[in-house]
Amino acid sequence: DFTVVLKRQDKQFFVKAGESIMDVLEANGVPVAHSCREGVCGTCETVVLEGECDHKDNVLSSREKDSNKLIMICCSGAKSDRLVLDL
Ligand code: FES
Repeated sequence: DFTVVLKRQDKQFFVKAGESIMDVLEANGVPVAHSCREGVCGTCETVVLEGECDHKDNVLSSREKDSNKLIMICCSGAKSDRLVLDL
């Protein structure tokens, strides 16, 4: 479980285990670009400002994953209690 913070929109939501960030944003009326929802297309790529990602996608290289600067919000989550996104 973690809190996702949308910095530009000044919103935050709680993401429970088993939910995707995208599911939570959509359920709260926040429009997000998506296509595959499975971590393969890269459409949902989002810039990470703070927090530690728990990457589950097949888009980013291991180096990009380690850099912790981008996240695929359809499938990946957070290892930290708080994940701040550039949204
Ligand atoms: Fe395709 Fe997220 S929607 S990688």
